[in-house]
Amino acid sequence: MARTALVTGGSRGIGAAISKALKAEGYNVAATYAGNDEAAAAFSAETGINTYKWNVADYDESAAGIAKVEAEVGPIDIVVANAGITRDAPFHKMTPEQWHQVIDTNLTGVFNTVHPIWPGMRERKFGRVIVISSINGQKGQFAQVNYAATKAGDLGIVKSLAQEGARAGITANAICPGYIATEMVMAVPEKVRESIIAQIPAGRLGEPEEIARCVTFLASEDSQFVNGSTISANGAQFFV
Ligand code: CAA
Repeated sequence: MARTALVTGGSRGIGAAISKALKAEGYNVAATYAGNDEAAAAFSAETGINTYKWNVADYDESAAGIAKVEAEVGPIDIVVANAGITRDAPFHKMTPEQWHQVIDTNLTGVFNTVHPIWPGMRERKFGRVIVISSINGQKGQFAQVNYAATKAGDLGIVKSLAQEGARAGITANAICPGYIATEMVMAVPEKVRESIIAQIPAGRLGEPEEIARCVTFLASEDSQFVNGSTISANGAQFFV
């Protein structure tokens, strides 16, 4: 029977490419989204992938949503914690609200997504936890104290989960995309974006599909011994 994959923030940007790539590999895929009903409906119509609406920052909503997906689609074997937001501001202007919004969604959201799924993975002795971190969690970023903190935190989560899950057949890995051609990067002021592209030796932004291909590898049976690792996909912009 085909395995089931859940992709948070799976109807837009990098998440949409991940959902589509997993479906193409033969997985049953469920994608979550937070608010954009129109984009989610268009995505479902285009791909045939069912979308579910909940706020990953809320534990109870996440647990209820996950229970619904498991009842309707099947026990979740692969979880891709991809949902994320930015609230960029230089530190001296960053508000506590901007700090908390990003922490709640990008970091606590990973806990809220993986925690309800984890016991089932342990019982079934198989699981793939894939967290979409960022180059900016590795190198830091001007105006992203909040975002960089969450993306660095993701790496701590997967390194710890990898140790806890290894004997239960569960792997946990992170992907650190560099700058990818999505709405999030296009929202950066054009002048700043041009200066960022100038720092990428590949000379271009990445494509969402280039991140999705990293995910399909980590989701596969073949990746069992890859555990607690970080795959950087950034066009040689930064090395750890
Ligand atoms: N490096 C150095 N300086 C930068 C900078 C950067 N990356 N970004 C902005 N600045 C500078 C500006 O040039 C400007 O300098 P001057 O005052 O000398 O003109 C100053 O910082 C901006 O100061 P302001 O007080 O006017 O800033 P603001 O309150 O208007 O905020 C900003 C502007 C939000 C910082 C905006 O410039 C911005 O969005 N910058 C981009 C931040 C960024 O790179 N975010 C990454 C988003 S993509 C992503 O997060 C996906 C991923 O994982 C890779």
